Amino acid sequence: MTVTALVGTQWGDEGKGKITDVLAAQADVVVRYQGGNNAGHTVVVGERTYKLHLIPSGILSPGTTCIIGNGVVVDPQVLCGEMESLRSAGISTANLYISERAHVIMPYHRVLDELEEAHRAVKIGTTARGIGPAYVDKYLRIGIRMLDLTNPQRLARLLEQALAFKNPLLQKVYGHPGFSKEELLGEYLEYGRILAPQITDTSLLLQKARQQGRKILLEGAQGTLLDIDHGTYPFVTSSNPTAGGAAPGAGLGPNQIDEVIGVVKAYTTRVGEGPFPTELTDATGDLIRERGREYGTTTGRPRRCGWFDAVMVRYAARVNGLTGLALTLLDVLDVLEEVKVCVAYDYRGQRLEHFPTDLDVLTDCRPIYATLPGWQRATGAARSREELPSKAQEYLDFIAEQVGCPIQIVSVGPRRDQTIFL
Ligand code: IMP
Repeated sequence: MTVTALVGTQWGDEGKGKITDVLAAQADVVVRYQGGNNAGHTVVVGERTYKLHLIPSGILSPGTTCIIGNGVVVDPQVLCGEMESLRSAGISTANLYISERAHVIMPYHRVLDELEEAHRAVKIGTTARGIGPAYVDKYLRIGIRMLDLTNPQRLARLLEQALAFKNPLLQKVYGHPGFSKEELLGEYLEYGRILAPQITDTSLLLQKARQQGRKILLEGAQGTLLDIDHGTYPFVTSSNPTAGGAAPGAGLGPNQIDEVIGVVKAYTTRVGEGPFPTELTDATGDLIRERGREYGTTTGRPRRCGWFDAVMVRYAARVNGLTGLALTLLDVLDVLEEVKVCVAYDYRGQRLEHFPTDLDVLTDCRPIYATLPGWQRATGAARSREELPSKAQEYLDFIAEQVGCPIQIVSVGPRRDQTIFL
């Protein structure tokens, strides 16, 4: 029996969907433990490409139980739509369960996300899905949870309580008309009716799975540098994508997690605002964007692209307690004459080996690069380390040494079979 946490080590979009999909084939249960439909997973199975935002990509492996854990914020409208589109593609959602403790994203959260972003002097670049405002209400103790959607009296009472906060804020600060309790009540009770068979105590379900010796995969969304505690605050999301968030977000004890795999791109990308020391604003950056199809799954925004930043991934190895790395998108670099890895930062003449907390310092950091020769050969057909060009192997070894963590998996293309287990 193994419980594995799979986390993003950069700014999200590391290819966790593909790695989850590959590992899900060997797992019995896949759990999302934080975030919401701000995430986007692209998974290619055969000829079809699936884009999932909320439902764990394990749903594409028949027989795998999928759980949306209590740490996730759930937009039921999006969830119902995603379930429907999977069913219409012939994929069963009978094995999908949603924690009764998960908080619900309401329409006023989506509206506030946009209005608050417009109000900010410094923009965060939020996905405007209502994620942050839903977590705010969770901590304000006025949130609505999935189990409330199946209880008309309680939902009416909780909506009244929430709207007593939200409507004056919307009307007096933002000039928005606000929301009617009756309209929300009808719509959200209907979601409760549709989703009732899947809403359950998922922590109990996980405990039973562990007792039966099942393999469990805990799937983080976003990435370490977007973590509310460990990320580049304030340019972060509102939850803990780091491995520490997996236990409370899934309803397990921290000592029950056996391994932590960090998913890392062969280069770096970022969507939204904030400093990015190895960003490439030149033709190489454009080449990486085009070859890597680096456009947001959720918002379609072009992603900022840059070289691999070992300072950042070393930091991710530390705050997640990584036991291994899964390196993705190696093939994107196939055509380059040389590849660079940032091994340290130069901050006003001082060499920094550790990722700084102060964003003003990070903004002033210049990358110190090690330059390695490119391999200039296609890697997409390689299925073992030996089948990779020797210079690509050297690149992998250099990254593992710099990060201080072994590489266990290498992905050389979007398809399931384009995966090398080292
Ligand atoms: P929010 O989570 O929508 O509030 O967005 C906060 C920040 O996290 C923004 O910079 C988003 O672009 C970023 N973000 C949120 N989810 C993802 C993701 O799945 N991949 C990459 N960036 C994300």
